[in-house]
Amino acid sequence: MMQTKVLKPSHDAMMYASELLHRGSLVAFPTETVYGLGANALEESAVRSIFAAKGRPADNPLIVHIADRCQLSDFCLRIPPKAEVLMDNFWPGPLTLLFERTDVIPDVVTAGLPTVAVRMPSHPIAAALLKECGLPVAAPSANSSGKPSPTTAEHVWDDMRGKIPLILDGGSCDIGVESTVVDLCHGDPVILRPGGITKDMLESALCTEIQIAGSVLRPLGKDEKALSPGMRYRHYAPSGNITLVEGSEEHVLQMLRQLYSDSVSQGKKSCVLCFTEHVSLLSDCVPHDLGSGKNPEEIARNLFKTLRNLDAEGMEMIFSEVIPPEGVGLAVMNRLGRAASFRTIHAD
Ligand code: TXA
Ligand code: MG
Repeated sequence: MMQTKVLKPSHDAMMYASELLHRGSLVAFPTETVYGLGANALEESAVRSIFAAKGRPADNPLIVHIADRCQLSDFCLRIPPKAEVLMDNFWPGPLTLLFERTDVIPDVVTAGLPTVAVRMPSHPIAAALLKECGLPVAAPSANSSGKPSPTTAEHVWDDMRGKIPLILDGGSCDIGVESTVVDLCHGDPVILRPGGITKDMLESALCTEIQIAGSVLRPLGKDEKALSPGMRYRHYAPSGNITLVEGSEEHVLQMLRQLYSDSVSQGKKSCVLCFTEHVSLLSDCVPHDLGSGKNPEEIARNLFKTLRNLDAEGMEMIFSEVIPPEGVGLAVMNRLGRAASFRTIHAD
């Protein structure tokens, strides 16, 4: 088993991390969204070891991270004018764009697709590492495949210890859900995965309407092609069984109490996920605080940590409130919906 170091981002730690990337090794590092598991995107064998460490299916492509826009010309065929606008507005930051790629990027990065997903993170440690190493860095979220993405170095440690040489510890991630993925290569812009940059923000920058991929708030149909391969997989899911409860506030609270007590009487270890405002009202139902129902950013920041805690506590049945799929709420409901396999009960 490999020894895994966890280092605070000192000058020496950053030099070591850069050296590891140049040697073809993996480095986990914080970004403003979630922790990434990085490798030199130009080195096929380094990228393969990402898939091995995560247990990730080979047909799920990776995001390439850069420090500087001028790196794009090294491996992208053309930059659509709309991409320039989005980069002007939202880079560095939690926005990933698809570009037609050259064969400088090995097939393993893009799972053979003709496009490559690229993002420029704003987190100071990610930005400093990318600048120091000067490489395009392929980095998926640093979780074992299928588990919630890591938002602290401890989460990465839980999944990756013994498998990678280094975790840079930058504390908790600010946004807490992964970047927004936008496709501008196939005609009108489409959001493939909602994230920290919202539909409204993208639409006001582009002055056009943006579509959302159909499978963002529902399961992918049996014969439906995944626009973003990652959407095919069970994801973000704790081992327990999550059910979402929607409806008017009063009915939702009633239903949560009912579901919780039925489940407990069947001998299942159970809890509810609820807004801060409802914690005391649900005090008999092992409430887990999602954050304020009026603050989707706070719920996004807490979400993956909350899902990981459910596993640590051995919860079998989990009943959760929902928020409107608006603003960052769309990203929250995409992740929470998939964690629940979109099982939903209407309380009204
Ligand atoms: O915030 C983030 O994006 C984080 C941090 C580490 O940067 N990264 C991340 O990577 O979430 P990952 O691998 O967990 O998710 C990448 C998503 C997947 O859903 C994948 O299918 C999609 O991006 N993707 C990557 N390349 C694509 C491509 N060429 N076409 C369509 N979807 C692509
Ligand atoms: Mg991921």
